[in-house]
Amino acid sequence: MRAKKRQESEENFLMNPKIEEISELKETAVKAALEAGKLAKRLLAKDTKISFKGEIDLVTEVDLRSEKQIIEEISKKFPDHEFLSEESGAKKTGSKYLWIIDPLDGTTNYAHGFPIFAISIALAFENNVLLGAVYDPNFNELFLAEKGKGATLNGKRIFVSKTSHLSKALLATGFPYYIHENPKKIFEYFESFYLKTQGVRRLGAATLDLTYIACGRIDGFWEAGLKPWDTAAAGLVVSEAGGTLSRFNGAPFDDYLPEIVASNGILHQEMLFTIREVNAENEAIS
Ligand code: IPD
Ligand code: CA
Ligand code: CA
Repeated sequence: MRAKKRQESEENFLMNPKIEEISELKETAVKAALEAGKLAKRLLAKDTKISFKGEIDLVTEVDLRSEKQIIEEISKKFPDHEFLSEESGAKKTGSKYLWIIDPLDGTTNYAHGFPIFAISIALAFENNVLLGAVYDPNFNELFLAEKGKGATLNGKRIFVSKTSHLSKALLATGFPYYIHENPKKIFEYFESFYLKTQGVRRLGAATLDLTYIACGRIDGFWEAGLKPWDTAAAGLVVSEAGGTLSRFNGAPFDDYLPEIVASNGILHQEMLFTIREVNAENEAIS
């Protein structure tokens, strides 16, 4: 969305007669995320039924139960709002409010009983994300952001790191489910970043990769192939904590386009340069 349109939309939201709803919207997002997180934690390592959306793209019973529970909880309060949720897709109503939900981020981890996963709920108004909640039930950590009001972790303001060189940085990345189709470049980015930094982590939950940037545990992150439910809430948490988001070519980040580079801001150009170097080497070869 262009800057002017975005600003108008934000002003619209803030002037909206339903302004008194903001705290109710936030409470609803938080309650839904906490309850879904509790459910996921309680059922972890139980005999979860698993089905497949792709060769390595799993769906557990908990993804579906969590999603149903979250949508029911939000719909009770806001029956005419729209939804975009990973497992059930889009529900259109014509409302300007859109809830973007990843009912379980880190499904592969979850299916293996590996306790790194989170619940992610964002609210957009006229396509502009204004609230984001990411809840990690294993560490009992709730990351929350409201447009223009900063980001918090369990109620305390958080900020990105001040790491100023890649050589001092800890990064994270993730690999898309279509990796088998064309793994070469994805691993070249990984190799290149790994050799320039103190390390690159692969948590398996993009929402946590991002929120960990917001609280300074990680300095930067890149991934191709993410979806709006992976980035909508956590992306707002990063920008409200002072971080920078973009596409691989440095263009403004868009939840609906499949590339993200996120950083503490200071490292952003160095990260984009590394991506450009890998791209240039590939072009030179082909
Ligand atoms: C996945 C995780 C993973 C990332 C994948 C995502 P899911 O989400 O966030 O870290 O590498 O690209 O699709 O399927 O577990 O919700
Ligand atoms: Ca996800
Ligand atoms: Ca998911």
